[in-house]
Amino acid sequence: KPFIWKETVFSLALATNNNVVLTPAGEHHWPKHYPYCGGAFQSPIDITSEMLRFDPTLRPIEVQNYNLSPNEQLTLGNNGHSVQISLPHKMHISSLPHHYAAAQLHFHWGSSSRPSGSEHRVNSKQYAAEMHVVHFNTEKYPNMSMAVDKSDGLAVLGVLIEVRHCRLLSFINGIKYRGQKVQMPGFNIRSLLPARLDEYYRYDGSLTTPPCYPSVLWTVFRNHVTISRKQVLH
Ligand SMILES: *[C@@H]1O[C@H](CO)[C@@H](O)[C@H](O)[C@H]1NC(C)=O
Ligand SMILES: [Zn+2]
Repeated sequence: KPFIWKETVFSLALATNNNVVLTPAGEHHWPKHYPYCGGAFQSPIDITSEMLRFDPTLRPIEVQNYNLSPNEQLTLGNNGHSVQISLPHKMHISSLPHHYAAAQLHFHWGSSSRPSGSEHRVNSKQYAAEMHVVHFNTEKYPNMSMAVDKSDGLAVLGVLIEVRHCRLLSFINGIKYRGQKVQMPGFNIRSLLPARLDEYYRYDGSLTTPPCYPSVLWTVFRNHVTISRKQVLH
């Protein structure tokens, strides 16, 4: 097996001086078909205060080339369980031990019967939605498919989202159905992250959906972002 793990460490980083979703019912069946699902590194988690310890070695997250020009066409698609935007590899995280280039971002949100759709919880609070910006280790792997099952393959930035007007994410209207794709102009992806990139929860975890490979270095920002209908991505 390719996975070698140190002990699971949960860290609350305070680095500066001031310091179309898979149904939950399906989850029970995952371990049978996907041996990694339900394992020790299964994400998402409920991030609770008692798990946290301050880790002074963690640096603020720094992202590069996130400000995309409107001339760069992005493909927005529905892969059956989330709405996904393909991202150019020049976007990357520069503050982690390896060079991680962006591959895609996607959203997890609720349904009318289950309006809270974030995957991670903080002290059991679930947010309306969650965005994941998925990066892969380009120092070691040529592409996403080679990285996805390696213990140091992926780094995901998680953003918890509160929505002011409840009809969430109207921009998905054009791509309600699996397999649909639309083109959209580039925009500043940084604007989807919270202002502070130095406050986050860090842990070694997994893909949140099958095959649940424990390949993800998770960064979940401590501050959520609030989107309103005006700000939706057209
Ligand atoms: C990823 O890289 C491997 C090894 O170079 C190659 O065999 C494979 O076809 C690539 N996959 C994609 C989707 O580009
Ligand atoms: Zn995700």
